[in-house]
Amino acid sequence: MTRYTADSRDRVRDAVDMLTLISPRAELRRAGANSYFGLCPFHDERTASFHVLPDDKRYHCFGCQASGDAFSFVMETEGLDFVAALEVLADRFGVKLDTEDEDPAAAARRQRRERLYELLGRATTYYARYLWEASEAARARTYLIGRGLAEETLREFRVGYAPSAWDRILLASRRAGFTDEELLAVGLAQRSQSRPGSIFDRFRERIMFPLADSRGRVLGFGARAMRENQRPKYLNTSENDLYHKGSQLFGIDLARGPASRAGRALLVEGYTDVLALHQAGLRNAVGIMGTALTEEQLRELERVARVLELCLDADGAGQEAMLRAARLASGRSLELRVVALSEGADPAELVQREGVDALRKLVEGSVPFVVFQVQRILDHADTGSAEGRDRAFVELQPVLAEVPPSSLRDELVQRVAGRLELPERRLESLLAGSRTTAASSSVVGGGEPVTPSPLDQGARAERTFLVLCVALPDAGRAVLAAIDPDQHLSSEPLRRAARHLLDHIDSPLAGLPEDDELAHVISDLLARAGRYPDATKDRLEHAELVLELARLDRAIRRARVEAGAAGEAGAAGETGAAGETGARGESGAESTALAREREGVLKAVRAVVARLEESV
Ligand code: UTP
Ligand code: MN
Repeated sequence: MTRYTADSRDRVRDAVDMLTLISPRAELRRAGANSYFGLCPFHDERTASFHVLPDDKRYHCFGCQASGDAFSFVMETEGLDFVAALEVLADRFGVKLDTEDEDPAAAARRQRRERLYELLGRATTYYARYLWEASEAARARTYLIGRGLAEETLREFRVGYAPSAWDRILLASRRAGFTDEELLAVGLAQRSQSRPGSIFDRFRERIMFPLADSRGRVLGFGARAMRENQRPKYLNTSENDLYHKGSQLFGIDLARGPASRAGRALLVEGYTDVLALHQAGLRNAVGIMGTALTEEQLRELERVARVLELCLDADGAGQEAMLRAARLASGRSLELRVVALSEGADPAELVQREGVDALRKLVEGSVPFVVFQVQRILDHADTGSAEGRDRAFVELQPVLAEVPPSSLRDELVQRVAGRLELPERRLESLLAGSRTTAASSSVVGGGEPVTPSPLDQGARAERTFLVLCVALPDAGRAVLAAIDPDQHLSSEPLRRAARHLLDHIDSPLAGLPEDDELAHVISDLLARAGRYPDATKDRLEHAELVLELARLDRAIRRARVEAGAAGEAGAAGETGAAGETGARGESGAESTALAREREGVLKAVRAVVARLEESV
């Protein structure tokens, strides 16, 4: 990390002219000797409450309380960190920055990096000139223009063309004083397999999209095939010291300012999508380069804008990417919205086919991520059958649990209730019933349930048993028929649930009586069953045996208590010893039988446990 001297910073501050800096963003009028005012560039307003004090080199808005100096102004309007803002201002107002004394190793590393940036910058210029001047690039030009991209846009993004010859970049770079090692380090050249020791250009006969960092320094390239059978379609710079694909966002250098000022960034998959959107005036578009949005990309975006509009292809991969984005974004202060593209169309094609306004309208109609998610589940659900509706409920429940009370939530509940053929009130109570489980594994959420359920261990075992019955309906039906809810289950709601499930195991929400408590229990069981990661018959058998053990323990305890009571009664009464021994003998025999039965169950438990252990 470069460190500039405090003196450099002061010289930049002195050199900045606040009016020159701010005027392009706000029309300023004179208010006094050292004071100008105008409409605030940081918030929407009709009356001018934004003030600039050129001598003090500060600004302040009485409307939104934005205030600061030249550095904060650039950081906020351009989405840059301090060092980058310092560099931008130094460049703009002609100040030479001095770096703090570095240790020699750090200085050497920095100098090397600067050389590598220069090498990549030269290559970028070379490719871009080649695209516009070389006759062998004519086909590429025709292709790009044919895709609706204007020369101006292509030039702005420094799009280029790599010659078909094997050594153009190599020779040009060597002439400029760069070593083969440096060419290899930035990924512009690669070693020859057939001629050890020699290297050649990595990119040939390809359209070159330079990948720049947020300050516009080119770090690598995405190179699109031009010939038939040329693989891969896009050849990218491979990972090296400067370039990490996962942290790159295509177009961030151009999109940063607009995204930062608008408070929102538009995320698309492809290079051409970014170009097409910028050309269409959507200047806040950046490319995630494929479908795998990464943590690093998100961190970078977070610095720039709070709202991310996902405008990804409407295919399976695009949808997966959106879910992934939501998982990554959870816990961050980012708002995700989804732009609904129709199947099989990417934004670039859409602009070309239906025009800029069609796309603009789609973007304006973006919906909160949760709406997209609910819609997606409903679209895939088989709501024609009771089973299908139950499955949809199980999927929807954790999604809806994430939505705080709001008109949006009301609207979603209304929509879902309609599709699942449930009265809204009933849906609400089902959702409330599963609230304790909801937070643990919803797509956007994470972490432990908010309210730990107060069940003791025995009751938890009973619930697990019922959950497994729901998860394995066929086996579940059989074991539910085999148990006696009154004997095996200890709580009344779980007994009612077991009886209900025996008749409705395939679609537990169907045919629920007007019983809110039962509805809560059933929806909780359903939610848990829906995400039981490895429900197996062995586990169900184990759960059933655990209930059986608990039942026997209760029975044994009861038998002992009865024996004790009978003994006391016998001792207290004066009547015959026969009755006394008789009662004791009877319960004693019963306890023995129960104990033997218990032994048998324990053995069965051990056998199942052994099988379960084997399977992991
Ligand atoms: P697409 O295959 O959708 O390409 O991949 P595209 O951008 O629409 O390209 P055109 O319009 O056919 O020219 C989307 C993005 O995924 C990355 C690229 O960033 C591409 O823009 N990608 C795709 C690769 O990195 N490598 C590949 O082989 C393919
Ligand atoms: Mn595409």
